[in-house]
Amino acid sequence: MLRRLHPDQPDTFAFTPDNLAWAEGQITKYPEGRQASAIIPILWRAQEQEGWLSKPAIEAVADMLGLSYIRALEVATFYFMFQLQPVGKIAHIQVCGTTSCMICGAEDLVAVCKEKIAPEPHALSADGNFSWEEVECLGSCSNAPMAQIGKDYYEDLTAERVGEIIDELAAGSVPVPGPQNGRYAAEPLKGLTSLTDYDSGKTQYNASVQLAVDIGDTVKRIDGTEVPLVMPWQGKPANKPARPRPPKATATAAPQPVASEGTKPETLAQARDSGADDLKKIKGIGPKLEKMLNGMGFFHFDQVAAWTAEEIAWVDDNLEGFKGRVSRDNWVKQARDLAEDEAT
Ligand code: FES
Repeated sequence: MLRRLHPDQPDTFAFTPDNLAWAEGQITKYPEGRQASAIIPILWRAQEQEGWLSKPAIEAVADMLGLSYIRALEVATFYFMFQLQPVGKIAHIQVCGTTSCMICGAEDLVAVCKEKIAPEPHALSADGNFSWEEVECLGSCSNAPMAQIGKDYYEDLTAERVGEIIDELAAGSVPVPGPQNGRYAAEPLKGLTSLTDYDSGKTQYNASVQLAVDIGDTVKRIDGTEVPLVMPWQGKPANKPARPRPPKATATAAPQPVASEGTKPETLAQARDSGADDLKKIKGIGPKLEKMLNGMGFFHFDQVAAWTAEEIAWVDDNLEGFKGRVSRDNWVKQARDLAEDEAT
């Protein structure tokens, strides 16, 4: 496939202050004279910020690294991880069409993308929210067919599941990445036949899915404020540009109490005598979140199942480092189902 710059280009590109600090930090990883090696992560951050790589963005990265524009263009146009045209505001879907995935149904996945997004690859959906393309092997062949959506892999897909995922993304939630057929990772469909003590100490999801769930930036644009900038190769945290702070209250304006969004749900001092439910059964809740929820006074599915919209807003706002997860992963519906299962 020809990879060309898009005919409609913005006039300029600029990193946000935090992304600029991050990009400058990356350059310090490399010895004098080898700074060009930082090109891929910096182009990637430009794409994480904007969704795609415009000509001004590629040239800005080349300028940062002291490269001629053609060198940066060579990299940006070679790798299909770099999008050279605007992508859907919510998500860009890359369906693997190589051998394993093709044999296992990639063409059906493409048909869903054609129907639900746009008949042609790289075209935006009518509402501008989605785009798709077919790509070469993404290295997840044992979980074929699969697709990369944003930054994460969705594996063991069916046409029906792809349709559901697109609908869920359109509704504002981000489905948990990884195998979509109940497999933990790439073990045999009928279960493990060796290494059967593999279960010991494992997290709710396999390592890459757990990381994706914990980071939570599958389809998010990144402005650099999401995580602290650390440069362990320099042995100390990097200086970050000051973030804008909220204005101080003045004598003429009464200070406003800092309040959480929504209403705090009723909590329990401890789990009931029957013992706490395994909240990790709710997709999107890992050990860390479960501990946080227990610390807040939530131990049971029926507690979560009863949250109102106002209460969801409060919990979403108070999950430090995991804000918005309740709505994103629809915990209330999941908890209702789990509570019902337990009752029957
Ligand atoms: S063939 Fe699709 S991931 Fe390898």
